[in-house]
Amino acid sequence: MQLTWLGHSCVLLSGSQKILIDPFIEGGSVAGTEADIIAVTHGHEDHMGEAVPIHKKTVAITEIARYLKSKGLAVEGMNIGGTITVDGVSFTMTPALHSTFIEEAGPGFSGGAAAGFVIGMDGVKVYHAGDTGLFSDMKLIGELYHPDVALLPIGGRYTMGVAEAMIAANFIGARTLIPIHYNTWDKITADPLSLKTALERTTDITVRVLRPGESMEIVL
Ligand code: NI
Ligand code: MN
Repeated sequence: MQLTWLGHSCVLLSGSQKILIDPFIEGGSVAGTEADIIAVTHGHEDHMGEAVPIHKKTVAITEIARYLKSKGLAVEGMNIGGTITVDGVSFTMTPALHSTFIEEAGPGFSGGAAAGFVIGMDGVKVYHAGDTGLFSDMKLIGELYHPDVALLPIGGRYTMGVAEAMIAANFIGARTLIPIHYNTWDKITADPLSLKTALERTTDITVRVLRPGESMEIVL
């Protein structure tokens, strides 16, 4: 499986299917990205992003799924703790310690809850934490689903920062960690290399700091 970080929280997993998670990048568009399935972690516009115009089969929490269905999209609604299989790809919805609303619909459109995903494809499991603070049940995500790769926000202010991501990485236990949701804006400035240095000195975890648009091959 190939993993591409398009920027911010937007990640493309390319294997037997192409899964595009949180289709938003700052100052650009990911609408031209070839994708079979879209996954949306929560309703904030820097995550739901271009889900409506992309108009592909979309996996999301039930409230967002209903909203997207009303816009004519094919949807797979689910909720936290559940696992579904879509076209041979498994999606487990995980909790996230964060707020949400369907930002493009306006205040009052709750969007259910913020979430993350463990996505299993071609024998590889990738945990995309969405927007979240640190929570100790990340240990359970590690014990239950054994993700090979973890994508964690590190920008602070709206999510955990580098110090919390250090602990999260140990809770989850994935061999490879990829920081996301940082340096998109001044308010979420973080140094991914400080995380890399500290984690690689103290654990067996490899931190891959990608440039926006950069891909890596996930080899087990
Ligand atoms: Ni958010
Ligand atoms: Mn966000």
